[in-house]
Amino acid sequence: MGSLYLSLCVIFLFLASNCSSSNKADVIPFDKNYIPLWGIDHVSILDQGIQVQIRIDPTSGGGFRSRQAYGSGFFRISLKIPTNAKGILATFYLTSVEDNTPGGGNHDELDFEFLGHDGPPYILNTNVFAQDSGHREQQFNLWFDPTLDFHDYEILWNKKQIVFFIDGIPIRVFKNNELIGAKYPKIPMYIHGSLWNASEWLGPTDWSRGPFVANYRGFEINGCPYNESSNPQDCESLQYPWNAPNNWNLTTEQQNIYKEIKNRFIVYDYCESESAKNFPECRIGS
Ligand SMILES: *[C@@H]1O[C@H](CO)[C@@H](O)[C@H](O)[C@H]1NC(C)=O
Ligand SMILES: *[C@@H]1O[C@H](CO)[C@@H](O)[C@H](O)[C@H]1NC(C)=O
Ligand SMILES: *[C@@H]1O[C@H](CO)[C@@H](O)[C@H](O)[C@H]1NC(C)=O
Repeated sequence: MGSLYLSLCVIFLFLASNCSSSNKADVIPFDKNYIPLWGIDHVSILDQGIQVQIRIDPTSGGGFRSRQAYGSGFFRISLKIPTNAKGILATFYLTSVEDNTPGGGNHDELDFEFLGHDGPPYILNTNVFAQDSGHREQQFNLWFDPTLDFHDYEILWNKKQIVFFIDGIPIRVFKNNELIGAKYPKIPMYIHGSLWNASEWLGPTDWSRGPFVANYRGFEINGCPYNESSNPQDCESLQYPWNAPNNWNLTTEQQNIYKEIKNRFIVYDYCESESAKNFPECRIGS
C-alpha cells in the first residue's frame, strides 16, 4: 500500500501544488470563525486555538460549525481522521441547516464524509443535496492514508460549479445544470465538522480500540458572509475571486487530473446507479 501511495504521489506532484500534508501556517484561531455545536465536552480547542480535536467514546461524539452562513466561497479545512475507527464517521461539510437537526427536507448540503475503517483502504463519501434529500453520492478510494497526516479538503461553491478538492486535486465536479432541470444548491450554508457514531451505516465500532480522535486545523474562511439583512445577489459578485470566470471551469491541467481520479479511484457513482434516471445531470455526464 505504502509504495502505491508513494508512486501516485509522485505522479500528482507534477500536476498539483502539494501532495503530502499541508505545511501552511494555519494562523486563524478557531474561535474567530467557529463555535462548538454539540458534544461540547468532546470538542477540545488546542494550541492557542489553531487546532481542534473531537473525541468520540461511548458517551458522545462532537461537532462544530461556523458562526456565519455563507452564500458562496472556497471553503477549506485540514483534517486528520481517527485510526482503527470502524463505524465512526468524520465529516467536513456545508449545510444550510444551522443547528444540525437531521431531516430538514428542503435543505442544501455538500459533504465530505470519511467512512471509519480498521485500516486501508479508506473510502471517502461525497454527497450533494439540493433542496431535497440528496442521494447524489460519489465515493472514492483514497490514494493516501488520511489517518496519518493532515490533508486539505476544500469545496468551491459558486453559481456555475461546485468542486471538491483534496490537497488541491479536484475529485468531484458538480456543474450548475439548472437549464436542463437539474437542482443546484443555492441556500446560504454553514460550515460544519463532526465525529459521530455511524455504526448503523458502517458496522459496529470496537470501542476498546479508542480513544478515537479527529483533528482539524486551518480555520480561515474565504466565503461571502450572509445573514438575513444581506442582499442575496451580493454573494454572486464577480469581485469575489471564487466567483470569477477562472473558477467557472476546471483548467485543462485540472481536467486531466480529474479524469485520472475518476478512472482510478471512484468506487461508487450515483450516475451509474439504478437511481440515475431521477437526476437530469446524469444524462449529460460531467
Ligand atoms: C452506535 O450506534 C449503534 C447503531 O445505531 C447503536 O446500536 C450503538 O448503541 C451506538 N453506540 C453508542 C456507544 O452509542
Ligand atoms: C449582515 O451582513 C451584512 C453584509 O451583507 C453586514 O454588513 C452586517 O454587519 C451583517 N450583520 C450581522 C448582524 O452580522
Ligand atoms: C465552462 O462551463 C460552462 C458551464 O458551466 C460551459 O457552458 C462552458 O462551455 C465552459 N467553458 C469552457 C471554456 O469549457
